[in-house]
Amino acid sequence: MRGTGPQVEHSGVTPELEDLFAFLRFPSVSTDSRNAGDVRACADWLIGKLQAMGLTAQLHETPRHPVVVARNVHVEGRRTVLIYGHYDVQPVDPLALWNTPPFEPEIRDGKIWARGATDNKGQMLAHVLGVEKTLREEGELPVNLIFLFEGEEEIGSPNLAAFLEAHKAELKCDVIAISDTGMVAPGVPTLGYGLRGIACCEATLRGPKGDLHSGLFGGAVANPATAVARLVASMHDETGKVAVDGFYDDVRPLEAWEREMWSKVAGVSDSEFLRITGSPGLFGEPGYSSAERTWARPTAEVNGIGGGYQGEGSKTVLPAEAFVKFSFRLVPDQEPGDIMNKVKAHLEAHCPPGVTVEVEVGHDGKPYVADPHSKFGLAAQTALRKAFDAEPVLIREGGSIPIVQTFRDILGVDTLLLGLALADAQIHAPNENFPVENFEAGIRLNQALLKELAL
Ligand code: BES
Ligand code: ZN
Repeated sequence: MRGTGPQVEHSGVTPELEDLFAFLRFPSVSTDSRNAGDVRACADWLIGKLQAMGLTAQLHETPRHPVVVARNVHVEGRRTVLIYGHYDVQPVDPLALWNTPPFEPEIRDGKIWARGATDNKGQMLAHVLGVEKTLREEGELPVNLIFLFEGEEEIGSPNLAAFLEAHKAELKCDVIAISDTGMVAPGVPTLGYGLRGIACCEATLRGPKGDLHSGLFGGAVANPATAVARLVASMHDETGKVAVDGFYDDVRPLEAWEREMWSKVAGVSDSEFLRITGSPGLFGEPGYSSAERTWARPTAEVNGIGGGYQGEGSKTVLPAEAFVKFSFRLVPDQEPGDIMNKVKAHLEAHCPPGVTVEVEVGHDGKPYVADPHSKFGLAAQTALRKAFDAEPVLIREGGSIPIVQTFRDILGVDTLLLGLALADAQIHAPNENFPVENFEAGIRLNQALLKELAL
């Protein structure tokens, strides 16, 4: 019996969806060591799937989570295409906000609901199933294929660069394809040709040797929580520009053709940003649209801030310390190491009197930009046009996939970003979802892509 609530579709589950459900049931949360066994079980499942398709598949150990590599029989003279994806997922908390359990996928309202449905298991499996379908229909692939799947993307791919160096010869290829980015609106095929880089750090401000009574000492001793607020406020000027000295020195300006092109892209107008985010107003660097601010301008973001009493009611305490977690999104040609040095210098110079600041540097990744009109870019556009029966749009991305620039540095090849993630996919948040329609389009897209990339 069906109620009046959202429709749960039980019938018509295809073998492709069965595969996706099996993949999504693994709680392959890479950051949490309690899930290490689940991450490995997920990698083992992938190996089984790839071998059943007739590919050679191998699991490679790393210091943490395994890398999975698979290939067809390579034929001299064919193009070699490397397809990358990640089978790890973000944590699920806050769990209470999920409408259905994150690792029990189900279809409602035409969407698959589960952690990883979009980021990245749904998009990644569309690659695999596109290959499977071509193998079934044609008996072979028109290209030499390498699948490279990692289990550590969501923790900054700490072991993948070393893996690339060690396996450089086997991973030699002409082009790389990844579906792990956005699509501007449903049904609008989207080719990404840029990603922002990232640099993270945490600052701890320390004052007295222990928490103090705020009546006895307040007014005479600097309060680290007040100091952290001042330090955070010093990171931007009042217009929204980052106030760190030299922060914009290496920023490559937007090209006129990009601004012109992006002004016509569906789904990314300022009013769409307002609607999607539910914010009462937009705010950012003056002189740029929201799309430009997120795709081609760098930022300083506070990801977390704390210190002092967080419980119910009030407590008259002067906390001994306070912290702030920052991430900086970077654009070409900013260098994460250089930016972090500038940020450290800023934090030390602006640390208010009476407290000390200690900066702990976190993970980072370089920004990336390529030519969307290169021969491979044009082939990807043709594949997108065929799979969606619509004209593709060309965008850069606000998010980061640090390994993409590392691929260029180590393997010497560019990456095609064939994004299938919608703005309301809730990636990294409760109720992550992926439209069945995008999953099916992704399978078609991969079939078309292999054809277009073949010689
Ligand atoms: N798939 C995302 C990145 C993404 C999403 C790019 C949508 C463009 C559009 C990826 O899994 C991710 O979350 N990356 C992290 C990188 C970090 C952990 C180094 C990010 O961007 O925060
Ligand atoms: Zn992610």
